[in-house]
Amino acid sequence: MAARRGTSYHQAMSINSERDIEGLRRVGRIVARCLQLMQSKLEPGITTGELDLIGGEFLAAQGARSAPQLTYNFPGQTCVSVNEEAAHGIPGTQVLRAGDLVNIDVSAELDGYFADTGGSAIVPPVSSATPIKQQLCDVAQRALAQAMNEARAGAKLNRIGYAIEAEATRHGFTVIENIGSHGVGRALHEEPGFIPGFYDRRDKRVLREGQVITIEPFVSSGARQVFDKGDGWTLVTNPGVFTAQFEHTIVITRGKPLIMTLPA
Ligand code: CO
Ligand code: CO
Repeated sequence: MAARRGTSYHQAMSINSERDIEGLRRVGRIVARCLQLMQSKLEPGITTGELDLIGGEFLAAQGARSAPQLTYNFPGQTCVSVNEEAAHGIPGTQVLRAGDLVNIDVSAELDGYFADTGGSAIVPPVSSATPIKQQLCDVAQRALAQAMNEARAGAKLNRIGYAIEAEATRHGFTVIENIGSHGVGRALHEEPGFIPGFYDRRDKRVLREGQVITIEPFVSSGARQVFDKGDGWTLVTNPGVFTAQFEHTIVITRGKPLIMTLPA
């Protein structure tokens, strides 16, 4: 689940032990497997609500609780956003069709630890979608990888946005500026708060060892802002504009970050 600029954040978790890492890994693995399971069910005819039910049952079977529901009373277990919806889509009666661009975002709590992951994909057959949708997925995924490469203790936090923006603009795409990455760990949204997906030269924050954050680039075919669809949750762009997102929860080290949201 993405962070929005200007909201309040819980105090940051700091990794103090192997036990913290294990706790994060456990819930991280659950959300990653949940995302994988839901993505495997993407096919024409399924509704976003049915997908959410599959995800919700998986989380419950693992003893995990939906973080958006727990934290914000979100009306779903996961966020499912289709086509012009960029984030925080409410699962419901919408029937998916071949070629739809679908973002699934799964975050959950287990034993007091929170992890957050997400990914965009096309409802098969992929050939039924305009090529730009697949390009957006590829570039957003690469932007995540590039940004993770920059995220290490002692580096400026704005390297993350720099890397994301560079990857997006290199392909003629834009980044969404009013939602982005965030601290996570003992709550869904923690300090250091909002982490922009673009380069903000005035941002002097520095990454610390043991810090837990998400990185979630929102790469768009033209939008820089998302706005409320009118239901209080769903964040959309203008018609005909699409956005892809990929997200991992990571722990900052002096070297490569540790990725918590891997399925195995
Ligand atoms: Co998320
Ligand atoms: Co998030």
